[in-house]
Amino acid sequence: MELYTPEALITEDEISLRIQALGNAITKDFEDEDLVVICVLKGAFVFCSDLIKKINRPISLEFISLSSYGDSTNSSGNVRLEMDITANIEGKNVLIVEDIVDTGLTIKTLMDIMAVRKPKTVKLASLLFKPVKLKHPVKIDYLGFEIEDKFVIGYGLDYAGRYRELPYIGILNAGN
Ligand code: IMP
Repeated sequence: MELYTPEALITEDEISLRIQALGNAITKDFEDEDLVVICVLKGAFVFCSDLIKKINRPISLEFISLSSYGDSTNSSGNVRLEMDITANIEGKNVLIVEDIVDTGLTIKTLMDIMAVRKPKTVKLASLLFKPVKLKHPVKIDYLGFEIEDKFVIGYGLDYAGRYRELPYIGILNAGN
């Protein structure tokens, strides 16, 4: 298989600058508070790893896995909880860290799951937001970048399990 270099939409430097700003904002908003960060696997793992290094608060880290896409670039319309967090979040400040909000279904489902567990607060950080496809309105408290309706890969995001290792966000070329 030939190696191909996807066209960059957002560079490493742009991502890094934005994450520093998000980390500063989160640190300020949670002054004197602890935080449970929930990383939504697999797509958010790179973003979450960089983001928590910029949050100057005591953090405990949890992972959750939901699936809404198979190997296609369109949402299946179904969200399945594949792996749950292990911590009790009752009375805690929760920050959900997601890679991208597209139709909003994944995050809406996740917010509903979290709400019944009675956290003190729940906020959402998402690296990317594609407003064009939004069907389930969600409030993104900390947003990296708003993007147009293109299928993006890299920096944790995949297409059919590939390209997560790219250090920048690229646009999937239909021919590859
Ligand atoms: P939603 O439920 O439609 O908001 O979809 C959210 C999930 O779909 C994300 O967590 C991603 O896993 C996946 N997704 C949506 N758009 C893209 C994209 O452009 N590239 C890679 N994954 C995407």
